[in-house]
Amino acid sequence: MAQNLWGARFSKELDALVNEFNQSIKVDSLMYKQDVEGSLAHAEMLCKQGIITESDYQDIVDGLCSIRDDITSGALKIDMNAEDIHMFIEGELTKRYPVAGKKLHTARSRNDQVALDVRLYLREKTGSLMDELKNLIGVIYEVASENTDSVMPGYTHLQRAQPVTLAHHLLAYSAMFMRDYDRLADTQKRLNFCPIGSCALAGTTYNIDRAFTASKLGFTAPVFNSMDGVSDRDFCVELASDIALIMMHLSRFSEEIILWSSWEFKFIELDDSYSTGSSIMPQKKNPDIAELVRGKTGRAYGNLITLLTLLKGIPLAYNKDMQEDKEAIFDSVETALICLKVFAPMLKTMTVLKENMAKAGEKGFINATDCADYLAKKGMPFREAYKISGQLVALCVSKGITLNQLELQEYKKMSDLFEEDIYEAIDMLTCLNKRTSEGAPSKSAVEKQLSIVESFLND
Ligand code: ARG
Repeated sequence: MAQNLWGARFSKELDALVNEFNQSIKVDSLMYKQDVEGSLAHAEMLCKQGIITESDYQDIVDGLCSIRDDITSGALKIDMNAEDIHMFIEGELTKRYPVAGKKLHTARSRNDQVALDVRLYLREKTGSLMDELKNLIGVIYEVASENTDSVMPGYTHLQRAQPVTLAHHLLAYSAMFMRDYDRLADTQKRLNFCPIGSCALAGTTYNIDRAFTASKLGFTAPVFNSMDGVSDRDFCVELASDIALIMMHLSRFSEEIILWSSWEFKFIELDDSYSTGSSIMPQKKNPDIAELVRGKTGRAYGNLITLLTLLKGIPLAYNKDMQEDKEAIFDSVETALICLKVFAPMLKTMTVLKENMAKAGEKGFINATDCADYLAKKGMPFREAYKISGQLVALCVSKGITLNQLELQEYKKMSDLFEEDIYEAIDMLTCLNKRTSEGAPSKSAVEKQLSIVESFLND
């Protein structure tokens, strides 16, 4: 009878459907390298402590390394009927080194083993996410640097509000992604504690050296409580939450890309290699990448809720429910990675249609605040000035003209404070370049923002 490694007390083979239901190999086989890495460090500790012999240790090293290399080369196929990657690798090691292989699991449980593997795997993936974020921030920096003069309307309520530049608008996203980067770095700090040696839940009677294994694997320190070591999945939730925010930011950005590439806006044109056509409408050029990123944000939110819900009712310590953690968090990680990887070059290759942006800025009275500020600076209380400016806008709307086209005598009818220099004051470029307050869209203020991003990129 083909028995599981844990099958000693069982007299019947597992029902086939239950076997399929119970296994996690289809998801956790992704962690085969981390499983080997963790086992190597564990075995080295066992040898150093005199728990296994030097020669057993050597066999374990040879066995584990050859298994890892054979899986990588394809020479060894992972058996999808195995329960999980931990069982598969240990079983294979025991086939190759029957005596030493059986000693590897001394002073260890799959409970601390899986907790370790997931941390190792996610630590690496968090690093990749940070690299991809940095790359995206770099692309935003490039596009922003080229567009510090590209005037466009800034919106509130999706109504034209005040003049900004494309650089200014894009730098808002740099700020979001820089915070995301920070959050990942912070998550990594808390993730970087080592659970191995917690064993099933209550540690072990063997004289193990947890600090040694932890430092071999690059961790800050061992998790200090063995029950927490096997039960904690906070790092999965934190990472899923970081990713939910990254996806939310990407999704908002996507929404703008979708709007901006519509005929109604036409602020940008996506490159042919980053857009798709329609099977029936020959004229179509669709922003599918941005739409998919927006759509995939749903999964990232779902995975976060899955993890939180999964954990909320689990008593200490390990429970099989926790096997469900990997599918959720791995999906979040892969989703965010691919989204970041396609989003950056889509942005980099898009064409900015500066004239259309500027044209949109001319209409919509985005200089009405500046008209009010003009009066206020001449001594009129702002609320009064605001009212006059609003009445002037209404007048222009009824005449079908802009504030710049309204004659001086009309201005004067509303207030004596208006002089010829009102036209200069409400000129779009004046409105933009006078906005020099910290964080504002004038060229000088934007250059400061660019330099903040630049120092982040060079860090
Ligand atoms: N496949 C399991 C998981 O992913 C490994 C740990 C199993 N431990 C146990 N006692 N059944 O969580």
